[in-house]
Amino acid sequence: MVGCLLLLLFACLCSSSSLDVLLVSAPFPGHANRLLAIGEELVVRGHNVTFSSLDNWVNLRHKSTERGIRYLSAGKQTVTQAEWNNIISKRASLQGFFSKNPLAIIEELRLLDQSRPLSGIDEIAKYFMNINLKQWDIIVTEHYLLHRIPCIAKSRDVTVVITSMTYFSNESPPWPFPVYQSGYSDNLSFKERAVIGLSTIGWRCLSAFSLHWVLIQSPVTESLCKETFKYPVELGWEVPYIIMTVLGLEYPRTISPLTTYVGPVLSQALLNQHSLPVDLNDWLRNKNNKSVIYISMGSQLSLSDKIAQEIVNGISDTDYHVIWSVGDINKDIILNIDSSRYYTSSWIPQVTLLQHSSISMAILHGGSNGIHESLYFGIPIIVIPGMGDQFDWAVRVSDAGVGLQLLRHEVTSRGLRDSIRRIDNDGYHKRAEKMSVLMKRGGGVKRAAELVEFYGTYGYDHLIPGPIKYKWNWIQYYNVDVYIVLLVGLVAIVMILKRSCKCCTAKKTKTKQN
Ligand SMILES: *[C@@H]1O[C@H](CO)[C@@H](O)[C@H](O)[C@H]1NC(C)=O
Ligand SMILES: *[C@@H]1O[C@H](CO)[C@@H](O)[C@H](O)[C@H]1NC(C)=O
Ligand SMILES: *[C@@H]1O[C@H](CO)[C@@H](O)[C@H](O)[C@H]1NC(C)=O
Repeated sequence: MVGCLLLLLFACLCSSSSLDVLLVSAPFPGHANRLLAIGEELVVRGHNVTFSSLDNWVNLRHKSTERGIRYLSAGKQTVTQAEWNNIISKRASLQGFFSKNPLAIIEELRLLDQSRPLSGIDEIAKYFMNINLKQWDIIVTEHYLLHRIPCIAKSRDVTVVITSMTYFSNESPPWPFPVYQSGYSDNLSFKERAVIGLSTIGWRCLSAFSLHWVLIQSPVTESLCKETFKYPVELGWEVPYIIMTVLGLEYPRTISPLTTYVGPVLSQALLNQHSLPVDLNDWLRNKNNKSVIYISMGSQLSLSDKIAQEIVNGISDTDYHVIWSVGDINKDIILNIDSSRYYTSSWIPQVTLLQHSSISMAILHGGSNGIHESLYFGIPIIVIPGMGDQFDWAVRVSDAGVGLQLLRHEVTSRGLRDSIRRIDNDGYHKRAEKMSVLMKRGGGVKRAAELVEFYGTYGYDHLIPGPIKYKWNWIQYYNVDVYIVLLVGLVAIVMILKRSCKCCTAKKTKTKQN
């Protein structure tokens, strides 16, 4: 009898605390891996987790099911891996969105316009427009789907959370903040503040006239966004943002009450994994502590032969050994190098390797995952950014004093050798150690999973500011009526004072004349 009651109680507790969670991501590793890490943690905590994206070469179905996560296909990606990589390397050759050449900006916009339909994010949006979302207690999505999934979910009254590497608002009242993809530091010059001011005004205008879709190319969900959100969704006033970085690397600023910095979100299973491939382990066996440089220039972006050669020449002037995750760079350069000094492979278990005591520093392309994984283990970085937000991370790394930025044209053998020496002699290792502590204190994947559990169970109405909750109009929001009344009052007082003074002086002159 008591057993039955206990069982019942247990069943009740379970059913009330187990959530049906849907994770939705763009079909690319950098985006999907972080959500999968959160999903993996939620499965461990006993929740029913479904992951959805497009089927393509990344094989997210396998990555989900091996973690005990159900996979829901939102369709097939039409573009091939080669076509996608081609677009990526074209964008990289432009050296960034805010590059000094105005023609490059036009070309970048054209490429963005081409790549958006190919990325398949609209296929995902279409799929979720047509299914019942009420079967989930909470939907967790990521910033690439910002103008799509949160708008659909909110219009259906389903709790939704956004995960992101940054908080997207350009604004940080009362001061300006470096625009996303600008590569600006927060020590802003006049010109940079002017660009930020203009882009903020432009964005506000597009938003006011429901014209966001011009830039984000989603006419269907754009009208949904406009109907369901009082403020632009990227400002995060109405949906929680789980930000997977820390202040210290990211610049401090004012944020919405729904925003939480949790630090790097790394898969717990990956963190618990300590064994390296046998041949790599053998290669590392006789290496001293802090005597190896790890190089990874990303999986999507191939490195030009020239830059690869400069890197090899630069390192040859130092005592370092090298582990190089080569991706698909020209193997000739790699074949010509001394194999006792270099270990190369097309795949390296990065998170496990970065914890190895022989690793001293990393040379990376500046993708947010690599930067965060490296700093999480206290490894300083030389960043050679290629495109998009890689320039932003490069400048943050160098501002935080945990690494250096080398633009592609600055990558000469001498530039690289000098950077390596600076990293060793100018306190970079010490500051990277501190960054590692900051990142571990952020709470990472466990904190992210806790937030999802909390929002899925209790919602987040208590965090929504008054102007949104009470549907204030813009007059109330900007306090225009109050200022008008105050102004009228002030003018009235001044006029009364003026008049009484005139009276006084008039009386005085009268008495004098008398
Ligand atoms: C898990 O969630 C799916 C919907 O995503 C649902 O069909 C399934 O019945 C759920 N399983 C359990 C055990 O609750
Ligand atoms: C900030 O930028 C100005 C130039 O815009 C520069 O002179 C100054 O040294 C910078 N400050 C720091 C701390 O880097
Ligand atoms: C190398 O690092 C490991 C782990 O940090 C440490 O236990 C060991 O004593 C170090 N070895 C030397 C020679 O400093």
